[in-house]
Amino acid sequence: MTNKTFELLDEASGKKTKLPVRSGTIGPDVLDISVLNKDHGVFTFDPGFMATASTESKITYIDGDAGVLLYRGYPIEQLADKSSFLEVAYLLINGNLPQSTELADFQHNIQRHTMINESLLRMFNGFHYDAHPMAMVSATVASMSAFYHDSMDINNPRHREIFAHRIIAKIPTIAAAAYKRASGQPFIYPRNELSYCGNLLHMFYAVPCEPYEIHPLAAEALDLLLILHADHEQNASTSTVRLAGSTGANPYAAISSGVSALWGPAHGGANEAVLEMLEDIGTVDNIPNFLAQVKDKNSHVRLMGFGHRVYKNFDPRAKIIRDMCHKVLAKMGRGDNPLLELALRLEEVALSDEYFISRKLYPNVDFYSGIIYSALGIPRSMFTVMFAIARTAGWVAHWQEMIADPNMKIGRPRQLYTGPVKRDYQEIVKRN
Ligand code: SDX
Repeated sequence: MTNKTFELLDEASGKKTKLPVRSGTIGPDVLDISVLNKDHGVFTFDPGFMATASTESKITYIDGDAGVLLYRGYPIEQLADKSSFLEVAYLLINGNLPQSTELADFQHNIQRHTMINESLLRMFNGFHYDAHPMAMVSATVASMSAFYHDSMDINNPRHREIFAHRIIAKIPTIAAAAYKRASGQPFIYPRNELSYCGNLLHMFYAVPCEPYEIHPLAAEALDLLLILHADHEQNASTSTVRLAGSTGANPYAAISSGVSALWGPAHGGANEAVLEMLEDIGTVDNIPNFLAQVKDKNSHVRLMGFGHRVYKNFDPRAKIIRDMCHKVLAKMGRGDNPLLELALRLEEVALSDEYFISRKLYPNVDFYSGIIYSALGIPRSMFTVMFAIARTAGWVAHWQEMIADPNMKIGRPRQLYTGPVKRDYQEIVKRN
């Protein structure tokens, strides 16, 4: 708490209240409004939580104006350049970069938990062949709570640790099972001698009838994408995990609620929507007409992959992914990828257009990621699943931080009621 306060004057009663101000280590201060309802009988009103800090956290910091993203204080650019996804997952969950023995132990635990129960695997046969992979993943993650009764005491730190290992280890296997179900191919079991991303590629693309060779650049590009998507403060899906977890629901149910929230095109589903948008635009010549639709409010057309609730500058992740796009496509001999050319031109035109400049709309993490996934052969319906694999690390970190907080309360927002005042029931004969 600081000694700074805001003074509130209730003009109707003349009553003044001092609201305490709290400061974080960096970033905006917060106004503690907990007395407002008790002393003044009012709530704050902030649809979409545009100006509301829902919790205190030590995990990720974003400066939207400066385009800064820190995971436990480490700049995303440095982690993208020097770290690995599993090391970043350890960092997000435990708060510090691991020593070599800690990282080795963490990797060993993840590698030893990659298989899923055969009954869980058989569930995939129950999904229709054209089920969206996100539907399969969210259902399967929730179903995990039917299998791990031995370690779901959320107040037991060891159970929380086992849950973290299990979900981070198994989410790629679940994703691969969904992919194989959708593609009609047989499921490929995880291989514990492979790296996290090598194993993911092997489960996606290997078939029983011939050996599969993992492309090192593909594994490197995937690992970078997982790092960049691992966490992002109190975004919609992370806030959903926190709200679901605050009721004391088991951690698999909480993570499954995050998967469902991520699916929306305004959030993690945007990467899939960007590819659809680029394919609809088709050629560079169609960009002016498309942007005219975007600027026409009645069209309800948005430039997907652009804009962000927090970033009013370049999303630092978008810059890194754009550079990786060039590298992956060039090394895969697809440097002239028409979708990338179209995306680059679309970005260039939009960033010089007053509509986007005045609204501070810049490319976000989803604008280029789908182009890399496509170059790696990942189908569009799996793009948001890839996002979910990465964000599972962040969801686990936030769930752990919340559950370990002795002051945790169930999340229960209030409302501004504008419905009918009290009225008496009318028999139907009187209603006609
Ligand atoms: C992610 O929160 C996170 O951190 C999310 C995320 C993470 O890592 O977890 O970063 C991942 O979800 C990235 C965002 C992916 N979504 C998209 O790319 C979908 C397209 N973008 C938008 O729908 C929108 O920009 C949001 C949802 C991302 C942000 O919406 P806001 O903050 O509620 O902003 P808004 O809708 O109030 O827009 C402000 C203005 C409006 O115009 P006016 O009413 O002022 O005239 O900007 C316009 C909007 O119409 N606008 C857009 C636009 N985004 C905002 N116009 C055209 N195209 C867009 N993409």
